[in-house]
Amino acid sequence: MLLHMMTWAEVEAYLERSTAVIVPIGSTEQHGPNGLVGTDALCGEYIAKATGERADAIVAPVINVGMAQHHMAFTGSMTLKPSTLILVIKEWVESLAHHGFDRFFFVNGHGGNITTINAAFQELYTEQSREGTGGGNRPDIACELRNWWQGPKTNAAIRRLFGNRDGMHATNSEISVTQYLFPDHVKAGTEAMGPPSGVRGGWTDAADYRAKFPDGRIGSHPWEANPEAGKELYELAADELAELFTGFAARE
Ligand code: NI
Repeated sequence: MLLHMMTWAEVEAYLERSTAVIVPIGSTEQHGPNGLVGTDALCGEYIAKATGERADAIVAPVINVGMAQHHMAFTGSMTLKPSTLILVIKEWVESLAHHGFDRFFFVNGHGGNITTINAAFQELYTEQSREGTGGGNRPDIACELRNWWQGPKTNAAIRRLFGNRDGMHATNSEISVTQYLFPDHVKAGTEAMGPPSGVRGGWTDAADYRAKFPDGRIGSHPWEANPEAGKELYELAADELAELFTGFAARE
């Protein structure tokens, strides 16, 4: 269930039975020649929503702009500085913790967010620790980060469907998920794309990224994306995440 679609009294009633909440997080950034700018935000949000339905859990509003500084040489990309994103994540958590939530299960759609999310968790743990209650550095809250594509079953399906052709950015799999979710927004003309860039790995700033990956993707073959694969990955990821969420919510 979506926090947005509940009344305050319904949220209060939910807290009687659970203090765990799902928080989707993504990014608004270029996703290669046929991927939507919202790919990471949409995958994070919709897979989190499906996870919440399966686990009968509240899903908070999505953090839909992430850390995408290296994509800013492509028009339409948006970014928060890491330091800003840390504050956003903390205030998302603190707002909900204020009401009694203490288990925060982040469903992430963007690899570039991972470092910053973990940094925010670290600050939260320190600031939320129960000083003076005998617990020392024992935090009142727990946060968990899960990238939707990294569960063992989901990852195995990605390998079976696309192998190494999935690449690292604007992946076949994430483009497939958005094609399944938004069939009216499948972009054509993919045959015009050239072979994947042979360059992998590091870059410095946004201009360097664009010079190394001129059409935006890294090592992927997104013209192989298809809605059938997207449906399978979406369902698998939500199943897997719901199971993980349930375990996390029950943890002491
Ligand atoms: Ni992505």
